[in-house]
Amino acid sequence: MSVRPAAPADLGAVRAAAEACAFSARWSREDYGRELARAESWLLVWDEGGIKGFILCRRVLDEAQILDVAVRPPDRGRGIATALLEALARRARQAGCAKLSLEVDERNLAALALYRKAGYGVVGRRRKFYNNAFDAVLMDRPLG
Ligand SMILES: CC(C)(COP(=O)(O)OP(=O)(O)OC[C@H]1O[C@@H](n2cnc3c(N)ncnc32)[C@H](O)[C@@H]1OP(=O)(O)O)[C@@H](O)C(=O)NCCC(=O)NCCS
Repeated sequence: MSVRPAAPADLGAVRAAAEACAFSARWSREDYGRELARAESWLLVWDEGGIKGFILCRRVLDEAQILDVAVRPPDRGRGIATALLEALARRARQAGCAKLSLEVDERNLAALALYRKAGYGVVGRRRKFYNNAFDAVLMDRPLG
């Protein structure tokens, strides 16, 4: 039971986890495959005899931008997303990143609570970013 880097064989399970999540980015299997192949991207999975969740991040200069995090509905509330965020923070710090950043739909109260608890603060908003109606909340976490 642990966080590990994704392998090509995991892409179907990653896609399935994303598909089950209302607010996930819901990319195609090929999209996740392209990210896996990028040197500047990290795709980490929670593997517990099967993929229960994942986190995807891309490094841009000294910043690690979280593109997607999702946990399958039956496995939520067990700290899996928190563990994925912490594993990512460790990697980013080791790679010399100065901060982690993300944007989240203002309606996504579960994710907002998750990120706040994990030490992320609100640094801005993109007004009416989603469907020309709902704000994107910009958050980041400095890496000491
Ligand atoms: C958001 C999501 C990733 C959380 O995953 P998770 O593994 O259940 O999260 P954790 O168990 O690590 O929860 C950590 C904290 O987040 C907050 N949280 C998680 N789910 C919550 C919910 N449904 N309502 C309110 N707060 C919630 C709580 O503060 C929780 O701490 P607690 O258990 O001590 O109360 C999951 O609900 C999910 O996959 N959602 C759909 C995809 C998504 O929205 N991704 C984010 C895109 S920006």
